Amino acid sequence: MADSEAAQMRNADYWDSRYSNEDEPATKEWHVGHDKLEGYLEENIYPRWPLGETAAPPKVVHLGSGASSVPYEMYARGYTDQTCVEFSAAVVAQMAPRNPAIKWLPHDVRAMSEVASGSFDFAFDKATFYAFCAWGPTHLLKSIPPVIVEDTAAYSREVFRILKPGGVFCCINIFEPRYVHHLLKVEGTDWSDLHAPIALTPPGWAQTRAYGFVKGQPVEQTDATT
Ligand SMILES: C[S@@+](CC[C@H](N)C(=O)[O-])C[C@H]1O[C@@H](n2cnc3c(N)ncnc32)[C@H](O)[C@@H]1O
Repeated sequence: MADSEAAQMRNADYWDSRYSNEDEPATKEWHVGHDKLEGYLEENIYPRWPLGETAAPPKVVHLGSGASSVPYEMYARGYTDQTCVEFSAAVVAQMAPRNPAIKWLPHDVRAMSEVASGSFDFAFDKATFYAFCAWGPTHLLKSIPPVIVEDTAAYSREVFRILKPGGVFCCINIFEPRYVHHLLKVEGTDWSDLHAPIALTPPGWAQTRAYGFVKGQPVEQTDATT
């Protein structure tokens, strides 16, 4: 992808036209599909909110979920309280009818003013942070274009705000840890690491990693049902 096209990935118009293009596959997974994520989720995320007859399922928000099947796969595993925030009306129209129990909000993840603070337990991003910085020079922190710094800082603060204290933000992307930490751990947030970055694909160019952050200081996991 040329830099000029990648730079358009921060705009809803770009995604609307892409999702309306009949030559594009109906569903497209960026970076990795659910098959490569499931082990990561089972080991690192799901145990925080065990599903049971008495426990309410965690409130999950997908940030820029696009045409991904991840929300639907999670729903099938019992994670029934899910909201997708997505600014492309074209993909919302395609995806929402697939499961009316999953809520869709047509908002920009950099400014989710209609979402109350402290609303969610778990926020999931696969390739949306990537969409803000796909065209940046990822190897030189000092020369990251200001627009990338601004987009990612606004995004990080908004995700931090809408999570409950102790809530988890999982960000799946292809960037180096120092770059991701530099852009997400910004003033107005207090992210702790849930785990060190976890590789989901073999080493090499554009290796996909899972980053897990906790809102505030990590708390010892006790009984998640209380
Ligand atoms: C690279 S795609 C990833 C889609 C999906 N998460 C996946 O993994 O297949 C980025 C998605 O984020 C959405 N997006 C990008 N910027 C956004 C923003 N500021 N607010 C809401 N959605 C956004 C796009 O419309 C697109 O669906």
